[in-house]
Amino acid sequence: MKSVRVGLMGLGTVGGGTATVLMRNAEDITRRVGRSIEIVRAAAREINEQTIFPAETTVKLSEDAWDVVNDPDVDVVVELIGGYSPARELVLKAIENGKHVVTANKALIAMHGEEIFAAANEKGVSVCYEAAVAGGIPIIKAMREGLAGNKIEWLAGIINGTGNFILTEMRDKGRDFDDVLKEAQALGYAEVDPTFDVEGIDAAHKLTILASIAFGIPLQFEKTFTEGISKVTTEDVTYAEELGYRIKHLGVARRTDKGIEMRVHPTLIPAKRLIANVDGVMNAVLVHGDAVGPTLYYGAGAGAEPTASAVVADIADVARTFESSVENKVAALGYQTGQEADINVLTSDDFETAYYLRLHVEDRPGVLAEVARIFAEQGISIEAVIQKEPQTEGSKVSLILLTQKVQEKRMNAALAKVEAANISESVTRIRVEHLG
Ligand code: HSE
Repeated sequence: MKSVRVGLMGLGTVGGGTATVLMRNAEDITRRVGRSIEIVRAAAREINEQTIFPAETTVKLSEDAWDVVNDPDVDVVVELIGGYSPARELVLKAIENGKHVVTANKALIAMHGEEIFAAANEKGVSVCYEAAVAGGIPIIKAMREGLAGNKIEWLAGIINGTGNFILTEMRDKGRDFDDVLKEAQALGYAEVDPTFDVEGIDAAHKLTILASIAFGIPLQFEKTFTEGISKVTTEDVTYAEELGYRIKHLGVARRTDKGIEMRVHPTLIPAKRLIANVDGVMNAVLVHGDAVGPTLYYGAGAGAEPTASAVVADIADVARTFESSVENKVAALGYQTGQEADINVLTSDDFETAYYLRLHVEDRPGVLAEVARIFAEQGISIEAVIQKEPQTEGSKVSLILLTQKVQEKRMNAALAKVEAANISESVTRIRVEHLG
């Protein structure tokens, strides 16, 4: 049977890993797919990565990615450049040229997925993106195909390896935020612009994709509430531990009576939950289906070969369905074109979560009563309180509160009153999810 000819765009961490895995496991992959997969062309900004390929390679190398999308010998274009542009233009051109596309680019899919999938449908080619979410975990396939019989109610995931690596090192070793971030960059985990990792944008891209697959809604990155980990302090990490919780950067998508919540933010999770014990660069996604109940998917969320594992699986999928028509393939986001649901996506005012709060208050009688009164006015129920010893005689103290679930607009109103009454200048707040 005719081999499938691959063109790689990008030979960095993931591109290099993909070439290595494809070559190393070529025999097994061919036995699984029923035809061989051959890299015929590769492009990188600077061609000094030739060592990836053996000296006698026949792979054509160039410094211009357009050579790959315009090469008539390429059947599948693998986009591993990242970013919105020129990735979007290159992918659209590859589709126009009748090529299948495999990408690890979550930013591209979250922002331009609708346009790209529509173009691919029109042309009858596949666009696969397993590596875009949670690195090596086959979460797209699991949700889109393995859970196709379920109504998915909610999902929650640790979907940024860099952020999880930073939070883990801060907790375990008391390491400095910037120092750990530098290590994540050196290990090839972090995005080109690491603010995408620490400010939650990367996780928001991934959550947008997961929510679309879960609920059959269009990709709506702009409606995903996004908060990063850059303001998480070691103080809060320690207090959370004292209360029996871990702080994780979590992406949550939930179907409620009022609409859909799509949010990424630091979150306290009970330490006894499996997902609270997912450490380092590992990712995990917990998906709750009405038939199956809770399911948990765990694995490396970043890095060369774990991400390559997902890219190569997509290439294998394309190779298997090479001659199938679009109607005979799994729809890109799991629902057939025209079957997307028009469900309201909630703004943060309507989110409902419990809260961890840290106030900085005077150590005098009545302070706690005043806070409790303001919270009671908003119907907020307090679950636990810890007051820390003053550092020096008469200095302010940290007052830590855990609340029960409350609508976010009520919490906003209560905290505005606490600040206006000069009880605490500012209040640190972190949402709490019990994931029960
Ligand atoms: N920067 C991403 C992460 C890479 O740290 O998870 C994988 O998408």
